[in-house]
Amino acid sequence: MRKILVTSALPYANAPLHIGHIVEYTQTDIWARFQKMRGNECWYICADDAHGTPIMLHARQKGISPEELIRQMSEEHQADFRDFRIGFDNYHSTHSEENRELAELIYQRNLEGGHIVARTITQLYDPEEGIFLPDRFIKGQCPKCGAEDQYGDSCEACGATYDPTELKNPYSVVSGAQPVEKETEHLFFRLQDFETMLKEWTRGGHLQPEVANKLDEWFEAGLREWDISRDAPYFGFEIPGHPGKYFYVWLDAPIGYMASFKNFCAKQGLDFDAYWAEDSDAELYHFIGKDIIYFHALFWPAMLHGAGFRKPTTIHAHGFLTVNGQKMSKSRGSFIKARTYLEHLDPEYLRYYFAAKLGPGVEDIDLNLEDFVQRVNSDLVGKVVNIASRCAGFITKRFVGTLSDALAEPELFDEFVAAGEAIADHYEKREYGRAVREIMKLADRANQYIDEKQPWVVAKEEGRDAELQAICSMGLNLFKVLIGYLRPILPGTAEKAEAFLRIEPQQWSHIAQPLLGHQVAKFKPLMTRVDPKKVEAMVAASKEDMAAKPQKARKAESEAATPTISYDDFAKVDLRIARIEKAERVEGADKLLRLTLDLGREKRNVFAGIKAAYPEPEKLEGRLTVMVANLAPRKMKFGVSEGMVLAAGPGGREIFLLSPDEGAKPGMKVK
Ligand code: 2FM
Ligand code: ZN
Repeated sequence: MRKILVTSALPYANAPLHIGHIVEYTQTDIWARFQKMRGNECWYICADDAHGTPIMLHARQKGISPEELIRQMSEEHQADFRDFRIGFDNYHSTHSEENRELAELIYQRNLEGGHIVARTITQLYDPEEGIFLPDRFIKGQCPKCGAEDQYGDSCEACGATYDPTELKNPYSVVSGAQPVEKETEHLFFRLQDFETMLKEWTRGGHLQPEVANKLDEWFEAGLREWDISRDAPYFGFEIPGHPGKYFYVWLDAPIGYMASFKNFCAKQGLDFDAYWAEDSDAELYHFIGKDIIYFHALFWPAMLHGAGFRKPTTIHAHGFLTVNGQKMSKSRGSFIKARTYLEHLDPEYLRYYFAAKLGPGVEDIDLNLEDFVQRVNSDLVGKVVNIASRCAGFITKRFVGTLSDALAEPELFDEFVAAGEAIADHYEKREYGRAVREIMKLADRANQYIDEKQPWVVAKEEGRDAELQAICSMGLNLFKVLIGYLRPILPGTAEKAEAFLRIEPQQWSHIAQPLLGHQVAKFKPLMTRVDPKKVEAMVAASKEDMAAKPQKARKAESEAATPTISYDDFAKVDLRIARIEKAERVEGADKLLRLTLDLGREKRNVFAGIKAAYPEPEKLEGRLTVMVANLAPRKMKFGVSEGMVLAAGPGGREIFLLSPDEGAKPGMKVK
């Protein structure tokens, strides 16, 4: 039996989870559940990442203590995890006594090893708030291209990276004050002391090949000292012997993995050292996003090494989530919070869809919402669950729920069982997409068996009862195997299926055992089809989440997202006055109105998403507004849209069509 400790990255206790987070937790959860099914001793550990300036400021803004904020967030996070069936064995917080002790211990041992030094640096300081400002809390003009409102570390307009002190006209995002330069003593971790060890370790099979290559680039650039302290006020752990100095959040965050496990060990009577001592034979896996590789593949093994602890067995990085091929966007409604998803859809759908798309690499994965509906409906409802619903009725109605004493086609059952090792191997290697493909091939095969045997025909003929029972029992036994294979991905569906089959939660070794002469329960539908309307409603609700944000935050976000354009770009847009000649509802469209626009010399057909704001469209008729007249025509579900009307507002009912002053005429150019 292997001893395995698995972690996912600790979410910041600053914001709710979104479906991008869920990719990682699903990926890890599937792996941990698989290991448990194989009979290994496997613990899946996580915690909230509770420290840092953003959390401190967020709490201040809400008028509560950071402790209260992280308590609330932890509750929310844990409810989301529970409802997505992420089966942590322990969930803790980095703001805990275990973490303080371990952070101090790791710091102390590295200090004794000579790997920590103090240096005085100059940092930007907000004189009004009385705090040193992290790079992301300073904005100003880009020193390279002059773009306004750029962050302290990099420019979104030209991509330049720089030091915050180089920004022109800098201001504090917190107070708006002009920051001043101030000297302060910081503590640094000498990463370069570990270069030889790290080079060997990163090439030792502990990283994905593409990640190891990335690290080579970092080695070439040279390893530098890492700033591990922050000045008060800061929400974190004060550094022993340095009053007013705190551990930087990224120092104690990964130590949170250990702390959560330590907390678990105390509750379970487990031996912490068996997993963390330098000579431990347990396996340690960290699942993370590709954006935090530097912390996990360099700083973390170095800190552990310097403190005499074991290093991770493998760091497994995954890519980002895109929705409909694009970065998640609040205005498009594709920035979907975990809770918003759960309010509309079954978590099993998303777990399955992510699993089907996940592989062992760092490529981004896309949630295409149309494909999502189609795939879940066709694979899970149309193939897997269908096998049970096609057979169960006959077994309950005609045979009081009893399966036959022997398998009708033992070779076919053996074929299903034989596929198990390859599927297990795919799970082990995190090739979930391949595992899903193999399982769906088997599901096709099971459906083919039922199609050939036609139980619904057999059922109508006299004297063929035993045959009917044998066919349906065979079908249900194949279903049992499939549900066993899908168990790590679909724990909720597996649980329902196991209740129907009246069996214990399946371990991998149980999958090969057929159910003979066994009594099953009354069949209840295990899963319903994904309703595309619910997907639409979820997207609409995600847009509303955005509209419900405080005006100030929204303004800052949209300003940050809008790049400057040149006059020439602006001049390309042909804005014209248009008279709304007709405004009608569009059958089957929730949000659209069809507008017939008079441009003087020509008429245009335009679909506008303004129905909620104008529930009586006829009232718009005769009124003047402004339109983009040279927008390329767009084919939509209900026809071609030949332009766009201009309106202001966040969306929904809050949309305001623009109107010209009196005297404007249809067709006039707007300048
Ligand atoms: O990037 C993040 O969301 C961090 N909160 C992850 C921390 S992972 C670990 F190191 F704690
Ligand atoms: Zn720039």
